[in-house]
Amino acid sequence: MRRVLHPTGQFDNHAKPYQHIEALPLAAALGAEIRGVNLAQVSEAQFVEIRDALYRHKMIFFRGQKITHAEHEAFSLGFGPFAEDAYTKGVPGHANVHPLIKEADDKSKMVFGEGWHTDSPFMPKPPAITALRSIEVPPFGGDTQWANSALALASLSPAYQKMIAGLRTHFSMRDVLASAQAGAEERDSPLGRLASTKHTGQLSEDLQRKVRGNFHPMVRTHPVTGEKALYLDGAYAIGIEGFDEFEAAPIIDYLANHLVQAAFTCRLRWEPDMLAIWDNRLCVHQAFNDYHGYRRELYRTTVVGEVPA
Ligand code: SIN
Repeated sequence: MRRVLHPTGQFDNHAKPYQHIEALPLAAALGAEIRGVNLAQVSEAQFVEIRDALYRHKMIFFRGQKITHAEHEAFSLGFGPFAEDAYTKGVPGHANVHPLIKEADDKSKMVFGEGWHTDSPFMPKPPAITALRSIEVPPFGGDTQWANSALALASLSPAYQKMIAGLRTHFSMRDVLASAQAGAEERDSPLGRLASTKHTGQLSEDLQRKVRGNFHPMVRTHPVTGEKALYLDGAYAIGIEGFDEFEAAPIIDYLANHLVQAAFTCRLRWEPDMLAIWDNRLCVHQAFNDYHGYRRELYRTTVVGEVPA
């Protein structure tokens, strides 16, 4: 039985009184809408406040942003250089703008990003920040949810926090690859390309590297704010350094469930021309697989992070 807690008193998602933007909290646990900004023309003063709001609210979003791929790239680059995207290839002319498109006739049993996860933690330097822009969204469904990993850590008992303080999580693409091979249609899409690997005798060296994965601290410190957060998820965490799998499984299972309890989450109902941006060091997220028969077209950029510490 996991401890179910309400965040009140543990985390303050109030908006700060910014001078150049307006922040409107989305939920008690995390998230905020940012108003008063045109992402094609962000002033330096606005950018400083946007970055502050991102670290504070973990995920922020903007409505009504009809921006080009080049403007999406330029905004993203304000946070740092692009990360290697572990799954997708960019659109022509914009190698770092990655299409996340599910066609209406795609009958895959899964959608990209449907398990709760932090982006590509199996990489040596996982992406710090992700910026996702919507072009076409289903009339209902296709929402994205986030959970606050710092709040989840703070809500564990002091004894549990002490127990996990020095542990290192083993992250791997293993289980996502297996699910894609079992349940995704073979198409020219991130999951479709993974599904096609079931016919190849041996995985490419690149995929083997992602399946081998990496070990990172289970409690991660944000390099800018110093905030500590649980660094683990239900999709990619497959073990704990030094533990055998039977010892690690109940700890991972408990923490992965604890992390995503409803009181720690917010949920975004997408509209066309939105941009959501989140800090993978401070939250996990999940896409919903509930819009069969409808097309969903989004584009993603990712910003490289540091070796987690
Ligand atoms: C992702 O996991 O980056 C995609 C989320 C989404 O499509 O809602």
